[in-house]
Amino acid sequence: MVRRNPQKAERRGETPVASQAVAEPLLRAPKGTRDLLHPASARFRALGDVFARVANGAGYGQVILPMFEHVEVFHRLGEATDVVTKEMFEFDDRGGRRLALRPEQTASAVRAFVENRPMLPWKAWYAGPNFRAENVQKGRYRQFDQVGVEVLGLDDALIDTEVIALAWDFFRTLGLRDMTLLVNSLGDAGDRARYVDALREYFNSRAAELSEQSRETLARNPLRVLDSKRREDASVVAEAPLLADHLSEAAAEHFARVQDGLRAVGVPFTVSPRLVRGLDYYVRTTFEIQSSALDAAQSAIGGGGRYDGLVEQLGGDPTPGIGFALGVERTLLACDAEGAFTLGETGVDVFVVDTTGGLEALTLTHELRRAGVAADRAFENRSMKSQMKAADRSGARFALLVGTDERDAGEVTLRDLRSDTGQLRVARTDVLDAVKKALA
Ligand code: HAM
Repeated sequence: MVRRNPQKAERRGETPVASQAVAEPLLRAPKGTRDLLHPASARFRALGDVFARVANGAGYGQVILPMFEHVEVFHRLGEATDVVTKEMFEFDDRGGRRLALRPEQTASAVRAFVENRPMLPWKAWYAGPNFRAENVQKGRYRQFDQVGVEVLGLDDALIDTEVIALAWDFFRTLGLRDMTLLVNSLGDAGDRARYVDALREYFNSRAAELSEQSRETLARNPLRVLDSKRREDASVVAEAPLLADHLSEAAAEHFARVQDGLRAVGVPFTVSPRLVRGLDYYVRTTFEIQSSALDAAQSAIGGGGRYDGLVEQLGGDPTPGIGFALGVERTLLACDAEGAFTLGETGVDVFVVDTTGGLEALTLTHELRRAGVAADRAFENRSMKSQMKAADRSGARFALLVGTDERDAGEVTLRDLRSDTGQLRVARTDVLDAVKKALA
């Protein structure tokens, strides 16, 4: 794993870890949030651009959803879900309506689908922040971004494969290699209910051996006990009944077809019979992509699955659905660890250094910008030395120098800042052409 030097990492645009201040001074970013300054912000945005390209290129269209909803929209995610019961940021608006910042976007997307009735199948992608009042650690924040897709109206195992492969290929496009794809089937709604009963019975029979937290979870949602990473639960969890033994024939066939599809497109996977995800709406296919470059507790860089009953729960006609969401911060942390998705040059093309008072820099930068050349300058009539330092910091490839000499001769000096190829005097009237030629 690459060792992190915070200052160098910042210059490379690596992703800063969220504020973890326990005592929260009021004028600092709230716990679990963080500021993204350039160039980390440029890399963050570049990741979103790559995702948009990948998703658009597969026939998905963007949906932009509200960041808060009536709290009822999220309650449909299941009262047994921590995300809903413990982690939601809820508030009343001035009209007394109970609202919540979205903890994820699937519920909002489904709400939007029911409300707007787009043509079927609806293949949508999204990007943006989500909010969960979590215990903050590296890779686990209170405001975090996701990119994701949702497909509504297709009951075909091969769309499950498409969705999973899209997530996988996106990560590969970023340059990630140390990843594992886990897939599982939770069966259809009936299988799932039967399995939950069997699990409840089993865990109850061994409740005395379970940790106190798992006994509590058991009362709410036996499936989540399978998720326990606590050592004292390990042997009980290892011997728990398997969902694979409770799958109906149709669900087993669906799952087999998803796997055949993954083999056909060359996406490596591991069937993980104990993969249960944190949200309650899943049936049949579920999956998670983990990065071995991250700590186990935060290693999931993305996940998703089928949620065939959710549209009905949100007031629509029965409509199958499947999707995924990928955590942007965790993905960038995984990229940092693997040395992947590094930022290219982010500087301007040209920096104008003007020691004649600043008016030349004003007109030159504007001419350049209007011609589509990224240009910057210094202000406050600083010394030549100070302006040259600013030019270096700007990352510009070229400096345009205007001193009294140049001004009196009606010329400027074009200097290459990245190599020692010297400099060139050009007529003021030919500057644009000279710069464009040099950049080309
Ligand atoms: P999720 O597993 O809760 O699923 O979140 C998806 C990804 O978001 C996680 O794998 C992780 O990378 C990231 N993530 C979640 N919580 C945090 C956090 N507190 N801090 C940083 N990153 C986090 C969903 O949200 C579902 N809506 C996915 C889905 C879409 N299923 C069907 N369609």
